[in-house]
Amino acid sequence: MTHTRALRVLLLSSTAALLIGVLAGNLKGLPARAAPRQSETTMQDCGACHEELVNAFTKNVHDVLEKSPLYNLANPCESCHGPGKAHIDGGGDRSKIIGFKGNTFRSYNQQCLACHKKDREITGFDASTHAKQGLNCADCHDIHKPAAMTRLLKDRPSNLCMSCHTFQKAQFSKPFHHRVKENAIECTDCHQPHSGLDRRQLGSTLSGDEVCFKCHTEKQGPFVFEHPAIRLRGCQGCHEPHGSNNPKLLVRSTMAALCLECHSRSLATKSVLTSQPPSFHNLNSPTYRNCTTCHVMIHGSDFSRLFLK
Ligand code: HEC
Ligand code: HEC
Ligand code: HEC
Ligand code: HEC
Ligand code: HEC
Ligand code: HEC
Ligand code: HEC
Ligand code: HEC
Ligand code: HEC
Ligand code: HEC
Repeated sequence: MTHTRALRVLLLSSTAALLIGVLAGNLKGLPARAAPRQSETTMQDCGACHEELVNAFTKNVHDVLEKSPLYNLANPCESCHGPGKAHIDGGGDRSKIIGFKGNTFRSYNQQCLACHKKDREITGFDASTHAKQGLNCADCHDIHKPAAMTRLLKDRPSNLCMSCHTFQKAQFSKPFHHRVKENAIECTDCHQPHSGLDRRQLGSTLSGDEVCFKCHTEKQGPFVFEHPAIRLRGCQGCHEPHGSNNPKLLVRSTMAALCLECHSRSLATKSVLTSQPPSFHNLNSPTYRNCTTCHVMIHGSDFSRLFLK
């Protein structure tokens, strides 16, 4: 993804409009060669009444729709707003143009998806929780007045997310948390805002652990001695991904409680049979209750079957 982006940035700064078109087309899965499209209006016709927007459009990535011979649109405004002649003839009749307002979000999204549905990042948008909840592309993107000219977003990604997800926002205020509010990482480092193909929009089809390995690569292994706990429950078996009241984002307030959930005779779930701490472990002593003072390589080890080094 980063590679694709870096490439795109390079390309967009290039002056070769043709090249932009060809490669953007390939990268984004757009048709390699769009048939020349005629229209009853031009961008200048729109400019008669929307001068500011038309002037600002030269700085928009969508400007390639007019500039590149591959798209060849006489009026790129219409690619999102639909045919504009009736709107013009009506002296600016709002009911005769698609304005991205109101609640017919599905058809609005289709305006954008007509070109973007094949982008890797957008694939499956229709099936996503966001689409099903009625979100519109324009809830997060502002084509004409983006906050920063990156991804045409209305705001910094995480601020956007937290404006709706107040419950999760609060989780990032717990004493131990991934530093999203401090701008060190973004919600989008773990979640794909468009995706409908994976659980919790985690951008990976597996348990979601893949997302953690992007940054915590040393936890991925493979290890000679694996801790099956990770396979059984994933990282989230022991950690809260957003924030926690417990150090190291642990899901339990004491280490012993966490480990003994599985490593205990009184285990309620019969299906998982795990080993017991040997009897020299005095589970009433604070020393022994902090299991990882000795079992230091709890995520897996290449040297010790018991994760002691
Ligand atoms: C004759 C002047 C005129 C021309 C030419 C014109 N518009 Fe408009 N447009 C208006 C007016 C007036 C409004 C309503 C503004 C308002 O009520 O805030 C408007 C509103 C809009 C809206 C917002 C609709 C909404 O739901 O709020 C869009 C989108 C739009 N125009 C696009 C276009 C496009 C694209 C073109 C060129 C094809 C165009 N306009 C040409 C006068 C014009
Ligand atoms: C890539 C899609 C896209 C293109 C191309 C595009 N627009 Fe828009 N336009 C939008 C969206 C989305 C909104 C709704 C903004 C919102 O609600 O945040 C919008 C809003 C508007 C409005 C409503 C007023 C406003 O500022 O909110 C006008 C007028 C308008 N566009 C005119 C134009 C004109 C003129 C062009 C051509 C220069 C154009 N648009 C090209 C997507 C597009
Ligand atoms: C919930 C908010 C949200 C919604 C709804 C949304 N987007 Fe996005 N979009 C984002 C964010 C955030 C990014 C930046 C992702 C990143 O930087 O990793 C983005 C990035 C993009 C990109 C650039 C992809 C890339 O990373 O190269 C495109 C294209 C895009 N969105 C199109 C759309 C379209 C089309 C729709 C509607 C079908 C839509 N988006 C709906 C939040 C949203
Ligand atoms: C006629 C085709 C077309 C339509 C319709 C269209 N786009 Fe695009 N979009 C493009 C092209 C081409 C680019 C620039 C090349 C690229 O980066 O893929 C682009 C780029 C983008 C980007 C990336 C900006 C960046 O910084 O990388 C976003 C976000 C985006 N479009 C959102 C939208 C939204 C939201 C809509 C609907 C309101 C929309 N697009 C409608 C063709 C289209
Ligand atoms: C306009 C409001 C809005 C914005 C902005 C928004 N979301 Fe959502 N999101 C929702 C709604 C509504 C739901 C469904 C109810 C829920 O799970 O809270 C949802 C659900 C989710 C889910 C759960 C998906 C699932 O399958 O259970 C994730 C993850 C998510 N959003 C992440 C994000 C991220 C990341 C961003 C920022 C890029 C974001 N959201 C921006 C409204 C929004
Ligand atoms: C370190 C990675 C990471 C970051 C950063 C992150 N999330 Fe999550 N998020 C996850 C994981 C993993 C889950 C799955 C939890 C589960 O299985 O229920 C999740 C679940 C969710 C859900 C589904 C409901 C729930 O709470 O389980 C929503 C909504 C959500 N995240 C929103 C956000 C928002 C908004 C942000 C930014 C403010 C954010 N996330 C930042 C990893 C992350
Ligand atoms: C974008 C990079 C990134 C991703 C993705 C990520 N983390 Fe982190 N994580 C960090 C950074 C940076 C820290 C350092 C502590 C901080 O930010 O305060 C950290 C710290 C931690 C800590 C230790 C907290 C402490 O108090 O020492 C745990 C546990 C953790 N992450 C688990 C996870 C899990 C589980 C996932 C997957 C759901 C995940 N991380 C995904 C960047 C990431
Ligand atoms: C069996 C429970 C368990 C599972 C499953 C687990 N962890 Fe941990 N993790 C811990 C414990 C306990 C600590 C605290 C260790 C300490 O303080 O000595 C910890 C600490 C961490 C830390 C911070 C300290 C360090 O060692 O860097 C990170 C980062 C981390 N875990 C990431 C992950 C990731 C990523 C996964 C999924 C691959 C994962 N954990 C799965 C129990 C677990
Ligand atoms: C989700 C259940 C689960 C949790 C939680 C868990 N473990 Fe395990 N652990 C296992 C399983 C299953 C094995 C493999 C047992 C076997 O092969 O007999 C194992 C193996 C071990 C071993 C290697 C010895 C052996 O029996 O193979 C040690 C040491 C260990 N765990 C310590 C811990 C510690 C310390 C914690 C808390 C930080 C912890 N475990 C949390 C399930 C868990
Ligand atoms: C003071 C260091 C220390 C602490 C603290 C400690 N252990 Fe151990 N643990 C050991 C040693 C050493 C062994 C290996 C004994 C042997 O070689 O037979 C061991 C063995 C184990 C085994 C493997 C038993 C088997 O059948 O192979 C498990 C499971 C275990 N510990 C769990 C825990 C749990 C859970 C905690 C926290 C409640 C914990 N340990 C705290 C030192 C410690």
